[in-house]
Amino acid sequence: MTDGASTPVPHVQMLASTQVDAVVAIQARTTGPAWGRDDLLGDVARPDRLWLVALIDGAVVGCAGLSVVAGLEAEILVLGVDPAWQRRGIASALIADVLRRLDERGIAEVSLEVRSSNAAAKALYAGIGFAEVAVRLGYYADGEDALLLQRRSVQHEGEPG
Ligand SMILES: CC(C)(COP(=O)(O)OP(=O)(O)OC[C@H]1O[C@@H](n2cnc3c(N)ncnc32)[C@H](O)[C@@H]1OP(=O)(O)O)[C@@H](O)C(=O)NCCC(=O)NCCS
Repeated sequence: MTDGASTPVPHVQMLASTQVDAVVAIQARTTGPAWGRDDLLGDVARPDRLWLVALIDGAVVGCAGLSVVAGLEAEILVLGVDPAWQRRGIASALIADVLRRLDERGIAEVSLEVRSSNAAAKALYAGIGFAEVAVRLGYYADGEDALLLQRRSVQHEGEPG
């Protein structure tokens, strides 16, 4: 790994089936093992899902998974960056690519749920225009609240919905 001053820019691309094991491993170290290998292999082929990976020197260092609802709105289901690569702009690059792809598809609204204690994710999303729109009390199995965060594309500002 390089130091912060020379951190390479990650390459973001659609998740390939050969990268599924790497994504399962990153999830196990970040969000918890939410998506197993078979679930992911099935998801990669679904038109209502969008899975992206961030690569450094060809190795998967981060992932994002979204559900795309009827071509109108999207929900970020998973976002994780290998702990060894955190705080180097990997998640920002992933989300920027996500937002560009959603804009291209005319999808104005993207949302996600985040644990109320997740300071890193809250700071990340606040910095790129996500607003807290609701609290889901006791949402998680351990009783922690979820915050519902939402972002509406500036490009689609003023449109109904
Ligand atoms: C949240 C997470 C995806 C951020 O990934 P990352 O690649 O480190 O994020 P970036 O380097 O792009 O950070 C962008 C900004 O987010 C904020 N941020 C990121 N990590 C932070 C932290 N640990 N504490 C405070 N702010 C943080 C900062 O504002 C940061 O900008 P800066 O570095 O210029 O100050 C990563 O910490 C992670 O995988 N966490 C575990 C899984 C998780 O919580 N996923 C989100 C669930 S909704």
